Amino acid sequence: MPLVDEIENLRTTAERELAEVSAPDELEQWRIRYLGSKGAVKAAMGRLKEVPREEKPAVGQALNRLKGELQDAFENRQGELGSAGRKRRAVAVEDITLPGESPAIGHTHLLTQTTREICEICARMGFEVTYGPEVEDERHNFDALNIPSWHPARDELDNFYIDEGTGRPGKTMLRSQTSTVQIRVMETRQPPVRIVAVGRVYRPDTVDATHSWMFHQIEGLYVDENVTMADLKTCLDQFCKACFGREVATRFRPSFFPFTEPSAEVDVWFTYPDGREDWMELGGCGMVDPNVLDAVGYDPERYTGFAFGLGVERMAMVRHGISDIRLLFENDVRFLRQF
Ligand code: DAH
Repeated sequence: MPLVDEIENLRTTAERELAEVSAPDELEQWRIRYLGSKGAVKAAMGRLKEVPREEKPAVGQALNRLKGELQDAFENRQGELGSAGRKRRAVAVEDITLPGESPAIGHTHLLTQTTREICEICARMGFEVTYGPEVEDERHNFDALNIPSWHPARDELDNFYIDEGTGRPGKTMLRSQTSTVQIRVMETRQPPVRIVAVGRVYRPDTVDATHSWMFHQIEGLYVDENVTMADLKTCLDQFCKACFGREVATRFRPSFFPFTEPSAEVDVWFTYPDGREDWMELGGCGMVDPNVLDAVGYDPERYTGFAFGLGVERMAMVRHGISDIRLLFENDVRFLRQF
């Protein structure tokens, strides 16, 4: 039936049926049938696209008129049906047949996800997960880690020292590395010690695609009798395979840290989103320096150990092909939603 005729037809049947309505719930049924979101008027409007272009304005107007008339007729009838009908008015205005709005559901930040997964891998490898304070003293951040007082790593410009009310930077600072937790753990336990520590560290670095003034590290420490460099390599190799997949290429580069001897840096092969490939430095590692063991009262003649400290953001970047660390801190939900 052509739409114009259909409109007339609708008007006649709707009006006749409305006249027959005698109770509020029948009236509601009528409303749903004709004016609801899946009702006859809506269906007729959906057919407007079948109408030739020249006739569209006229037919469109006729449809709108029909809708207005039926709405008025409905409201009149509602009034006639008395107070029960009037109470229902709200229902008629708020169309309860429309689908509801589902609330946006959040999830943990990519860095939290990464941290949890890394900790889980380490726990499976026998490391206990520990934490330490972000506000530290020089003993834990430097002295006990064999970093002498003249060492450039202590420079005021390279650390966030805290002004303790004297107007000058004091001895308290935001920790610049999670190696502090190595000391805190060894001060309170005897070997064997096998822990990891995760958390934020702070450095006044210039922000770029791979640097930030705050980032997260995961620190590992294993001290026992007969721990060797081979154990360290095996451990990190296994860790990287668990974290990045069995195919990952890793590299140890000789390096220097005051708290390890010998020391190395750990790199993994990284494919950037644009297809470029290169080594990405994850962090440092090495055999715990005897001076460090000495500083916490362990016997360096009896015990040896290895340690490592890796950047959590960099791991998330390698795992997900993210080329800029800043994306992890800007909290743009369009980015975060992808993980
Ligand atoms: N703390 C070092 C840094 O922040 C990383 C590091 C190197 C940690 C060697 C270690 C280690 O435990 O053995 O750059």
